Amino acid sequence: MVSVARSSANIALVKYWGKRDAKLNLPLTGSISLTLKELETQTAVEFDPALEDDELELNGKPADKAATEKVTKFLDLIRTRALIQTRARVLSTNTFPTASGLASSSSAFSALALAASTAAGLLLPPPTLSELARRGSGSAARSIFGGFVEMLPGVLSDGTDAVAVPIAPQDHWDVRIVVGVTTLASKATSSTDGMESTTRTSPYMPVWVQTQDRDLNVMRRALLDRDIQRVGELMEHNALKMHAAALAAQPGVLYWNGRTVDLMHAVYGMRKEGVPAYFTIDAGPHVKVFCLARDAEHVGRTLASVPGVQRVITCAPGAGAELIEQRDSLFAARMTV
Ligand code: PMV
Repeated sequence: MVSVARSSANIALVKYWGKRDAKLNLPLTGSISLTLKELETQTAVEFDPALEDDELELNGKPADKAATEKVTKFLDLIRTRALIQTRARVLSTNTFPTASGLASSSSAFSALALAASTAAGLLLPPPTLSELARRGSGSAARSIFGGFVEMLPGVLSDGTDAVAVPIAPQDHWDVRIVVGVTTLASKATSSTDGMESTTRTSPYMPVWVQTQDRDLNVMRRALLDRDIQRVGELMEHNALKMHAAALAAQPGVLYWNGRTVDLMHAVYGMRKEGVPAYFTIDAGPHVKVFCLARDAEHVGRTLASVPGVQRVITCAPGAGAELIEQRDSLFAARMTV
């Protein structure tokens, strides 16, 4: 049986940066995100007794060894649960640049968790899927749900309570995230490596951890109130605080390029003109601008006018991970994925 799932990436408004357990991928703190419709991954999975090893195809091409090994490790979790040893064929496609700080791991592992667990005959409820997706990538736990989502850090050592929960649905607030893509190259430092080095060496890490609960409480309330200024100012502050901690690691972890800074100034410029637009930046050089739907076109044009910006992608709130097909053979799945 082939299962095909779709899932969208999410962008954190209050960031996850630091792990309390690297093996189980348990976060040190909670985080809050918005799932985004336009940044989508579709993944088809088929367990096939004829295969000797797992096979992974990304965007129509065989994946490299490192990516395939990561997927095998993840599928092993599902095989253990389903009491099977069968290898799988996985076809995955993204609608946006892979591994460039556009949160492709969040859509990738949430889609894979749903497609692979279903193909293995498991019917996992959303909290269990969220826990499973977390093992692939911390942010993927949040993409199981649509709209505004909170990741709970949990307290248990086995990680069963480190799962995401919905805060408000996709249609709660007509906002946009406008992404200014500053380069088409892959990022130099993975989020896992950046977090590890920040946690181990940054003198600002304790402050980052201590102030997260306050940021989460204020953000949750401001989102429910649909208060653009409170959400935006706190989102920007939280992102700058995360990057300040990373920059103070030894050696410093710098994710920005020149265009990143130019885009930050462009956002400050829009605010001076009275447009409520606020930025956030993840483990990559792109700038993601939070604004009201009515201002998205103006924001998009402003970002696109900054020299060196490659592309602008406007994203609306999206749905959580969904199963889109179950078929008998991968040949049929290949036609749509
Ligand atoms: O899910 P990961 O391991 O790629 O980490 C995501 C880290 C950030 O994108 C920088 C922040 C976040 O909360 O998504």
